[in-house]
Amino acid sequence: MIKVERLVKAFGRQQVLRGLDLDVATGSITVVIGRSGGGKSVLLRHLIGLLRPDAGRVLVDGADVTRLHGRALDEVRRRYGVVFQGGALFDSMTCAGNVAFPLREKLRLRAAEVATRVEAALTQVGLEGMGSKYPAEVSGGMRKRVAIARALVTEPEIVFFDEPTTGLDPILVNTIHHLILELHRKLRFTAVMVSHEIPEIFEIADTVAMLHEGRIAEVGPPAVIQASPNPVVRQFIRGEPERAEGA
Ligand SMILES: Nc1ncnc2c1ncn2[C@@H]1O[C@H](COP(=O)(O)OP(=O)(O)OP(=O)(O)O)[C@@H](O)[C@H]1O
Ligand SMILES: [Mg+2]
Repeated sequence: MIKVERLVKAFGRQQVLRGLDLDVATGSITVVIGRSGGGKSVLLRHLIGLLRPDAGRVLVDGADVTRLHGRALDEVRRRYGVVFQGGALFDSMTCAGNVAFPLREKLRLRAAEVATRVEAALTQVGLEGMGSKYPAEVSGGMRKRVAIARALVTEPEIVFFDEPTTGLDPILVNTIHHLILELHRKLRFTAVMVSHEIPEIFEIADTVAMLHEGRIAEVGPPAVIQASPNPVVRQFIRGEPERAEGA
């Protein structure tokens, strides 16, 4: 469904993506792992069409989103749901208002239909009756769930999750992961997720892709990645500290 080809992106002199290739199969959950600052969010922003590459392509069902503008790009984005790193809720809107936002803006549904779907979406993430609270009045874990409800309320075909569980306690991490799995089974979206939750993500991913030095160093099913002889992958998933050159 999504095909990333030789994607290159630099900010000034900093080369972040250096000819990155990645294929995401329809209906799969692909998790991108890698060092902090390695370019995972930058990669996601290219998939969403929020950043333009210096070179390379991002094909979504054959259309190159890096070259789309205006209405054509909106058309592709209408099929997307996005959970941004940090949640990115609108603080001036209630939780229900946040979830309603894409229904109004993207789907232009009428108020009655919006209200029904918002309540259903909040219930799906275990937040029934919490809609009238503001983001500042709920916990971090609840904010993440509101962000997930907002991303999924339009029943998108493709969902991007940028660290949906970072900063949550281990029980909540598993709760959110199970929630995502459950919703995935129900709605059958294609998911691309960035996550630092190792080893938990190995239980929910169909495919794991390790981003290293601007490219995908290794990609495969969780079991293959976990058993990988590649020192870059092994060091990362075991959390081994970096060694000085020659040590
Ligand atoms: N708009 C931008 N302008 C300049 N530099 C940027 C911009 N966006 C990202 N960068 C740089 O690109 C590099 C990769 O950033 P990115 O946010 O993709 O990292 P990440 O892998 O998502 O890290 P983390 O796991 O900490 O979220 C960083 O060095 C960052 O400073
Ligand atoms: Mg990031």
